[in-house]
Amino acid sequence: MNYLPNNLTFNNGDAFLNNFSLIDIASEHGTPLYVYDWDNIEDNISEFTNAFGDDALYRYAAKAFICKKLVELLDKNNWGVDVVSGGEMATVLSVLDTLENTLFNGTFKTKDEVNFFISNNGGHISIDNLNEITLIQDIALKNKRKQPVILRINLDLGAETHPMVLTSGYDQQFGISIDVAETALKEVYNSNSLLFSGVHVHIGSQIKDPKRFNKAMEECSLFLERNKASVEREVVFDAGGGFFSPYEGDDNSEDLSVYAKAIKSGIEKNWTTDYKIMIEPGRAIVNNAGLILYTAGAIKEDRGEKPFILVDGGMSDNPRPALYGSEHKLFNISGKVNDKEKVFAVSGRHCESGDLLVDRALLSEDTKTGDVLMSTSTGAYTYAMASNYNRVPKAKVVGVSKTEVFDLVKRQSFEDTVSDDI
Ligand SMILES: Cc1ncc(COP(=O)(O)O)c(C=O)c1O
Repeated sequence: MNYLPNNLTFNNGDAFLNNFSLIDIASEHGTPLYVYDWDNIEDNISEFTNAFGDDALYRYAAKAFICKKLVELLDKNNWGVDVVSGGEMATVLSVLDTLENTLFNGTFKTKDEVNFFISNNGGHISIDNLNEITLIQDIALKNKRKQPVILRINLDLGAETHPMVLTSGYDQQFGISIDVAETALKEVYNSNSLLFSGVHVHIGSQIKDPKRFNKAMEECSLFLERNKASVEREVVFDAGGGFFSPYEGDDNSEDLSVYAKAIKSGIEKNWTTDYKIMIEPGRAIVNNAGLILYTAGAIKEDRGEKPFILVDGGMSDNPRPALYGSEHKLFNISGKVNDKEKVFAVSGRHCESGDLLVDRALLSEDTKTGDVLMSTSTGAYTYAMASNYNRVPKAKVVGVSKTEVFDLVKRQSFEDTVSDDI
């Protein structure tokens, strides 16, 4: 996998997705604009399916990016969705009439969300803490359902990743400690309205080393083996998400089949009867396929040690640089073939000094007001984290396939930013 979309090409300083000029797309749809290489998303899905096989349960993590057309694409490929809120469930339900291939994750599940999930035939619920057990069993009982649940275990394994996206380890708030998991399992087992269906871990994001997955699965299988008297049927080993997706400058990770084997062999170290693997990739499905196009406004030469380019978006469409200090490689795609480049600071439009999209962007020295800048590896945790900060309307999202450019999410109007006010 590359950090750029599979179908992106450059020609004399212009950029194309398939045969569509990104400059033409920007002028037709306006900027800021999120653009997805739709075929690339489907290729990413297929890579996982080929590596893990038709038998695995795929639950794409909606938190990375979700919209109705993506739910359709996932469903067409027999993938379900991992959701963490009623809004994400509603997105799935607006396309499909059931949540049966949906996994409900998260540290805080409201009564309304649990009820919405269960009453729409929801698939698995991942139990994050002991408090949830009573809540879920009561609601399942009212709905006359035996609700499949899996236990999210925090194995204190950590991962070689940014502290802000680390989700396992003693200091992290997610999941149940292994020594409490046994109590949780017994409670679930003894409940009439819950069906114990397996275990879940999510070590963190951007995990390169397959041994981490292997170790996590080995510990889970040991836990289940020790408690096998309470396990009645084919069990799910959910290895979570966190599969690596490169940003500019990153080395590639191992082939996905290596992760699949690592997960399988970890499970089979201690577990000898039937099981199913579940995975929840988010970033690895959408990140490299996504771009954001901005228009350059003023170029300020009189501030700072390098010129500032002020663009028409910023932390409201991509909060990642401000939140994690993440860097996204920028290209000037307005036909700039001059190979003389210089360093610019590219700053967003928001009233925060932290709204710096790239601190040191190497761009053509001829970059001028009105040029279109393309920010890459921006498919995950960008639109999904977008806000109306400064009451800036959320940007439009389009997809590009081999044959067409199509709308995925409309651009908000000024009035949309006021529509919730009483
Ligand atoms: C429980 C869980 N599953 C899946 C994911 C998706 O992770 P990624 O986008 O890195 O694949 C996350 C991300 O935070 C998560 O918390």
